Amino acid sequence: MKGIILAGGKGTRLYPMTKAVSKQLLPIYDKPLIYYPLSILLLAGIREILIISTPHDIGNYEELLGDGKALGIELTYKIQSEPRGLADAFLLGEEHIGDDSVCLILGDNLFYGQSLTAILDEAVRQLTENGGAIVFGYPVKDARSYGVVEFDDFKNVISIEEKPEYPKSKYAVPGLYFYDNDVVRVAKGVLPSARGEIEITSVNNDYLARGTLKVQLLGRGMAWLDTGSPDGMLKAAEFVEAVQARQGFYISCLEEIAWRRGFIDDEQLRALGEGLSMTEYGQYLLSLLEN
Ligand code: G1P
Repeated sequence: MKGIILAGGKGTRLYPMTKAVSKQLLPIYDKPLIYYPLSILLLAGIREILIISTPHDIGNYEELLGDGKALGIELTYKIQSEPRGLADAFLLGEEHIGDDSVCLILGDNLFYGQSLTAILDEAVRQLTENGGAIVFGYPVKDARSYGVVEFDDFKNVISIEEKPEYPKSKYAVPGLYFYDNDVVRVAKGVLPSARGEIEITSVNNDYLARGTLKVQLLGRGMAWLDTGSPDGMLKAAEFVEAVQARQGFYISCLEEIAWRRGFIDDEQLRALGEGLSMTEYGQYLLSLLEN
């Protein structure tokens, strides 16, 4: 399975913070925002990842993350010249996806929870065996600014709507999606919505119409945090700080995940830690080797 991170957009809702810097490069406590979604792909065992961003920002992502070799993964980059919508990721990513299935994650989505690895493993397994598409449902107080999924008692999807004024359920669809190889063909057929974008929700509706869309619910023990406003970013940073300070484990530490997943060995982790040894982050990496 291939991975795609969409880190485009103008970030106008966060101006002036994002006037000169891409939103997904801004820090959430101690790491750039994009570390969080990238960590999810690594946790899912996905090692070939395409990062899509604007002509202005793509170079910054390359500078931050490089070719991925240091993490035992393969990172490639693609420019999205205009924000055309989330489904554009599959058009820009066609070559990257090749004959494979794909997981798309939005560059500003932050997930954290005990059962996350098991949920991701299960989604990868299901998709590889059965094909189709898998989206998630996460209960929120106000679902109006999200894709919203409605389902029956057996978790069969009834409808999926983009930013409805009257949501049919309280389950928002987070920016984490799994698709079989059909997604490229489906995305090519999507027409722009009223807001002029080729919507991921239209892709999901195509799978729904063909009876191959599955929803998996994320429960109360899972955090899916909003980073769409200054308030949301602050709260997300406070959350990360609180958990890290209490447990002493870092959230979304890419080097640690790559090491635990066996993408890099002890010596590679040591080198990464030594390179950053003047920081707490580097000290943390080195401490992993001692425990
Ligand atoms: C996008 C999707 C929406 C989804 C959300 C998750 O919204 O269109 O369906 O629920 O991401 O973050 P946007 O970020 O474009 O408002």
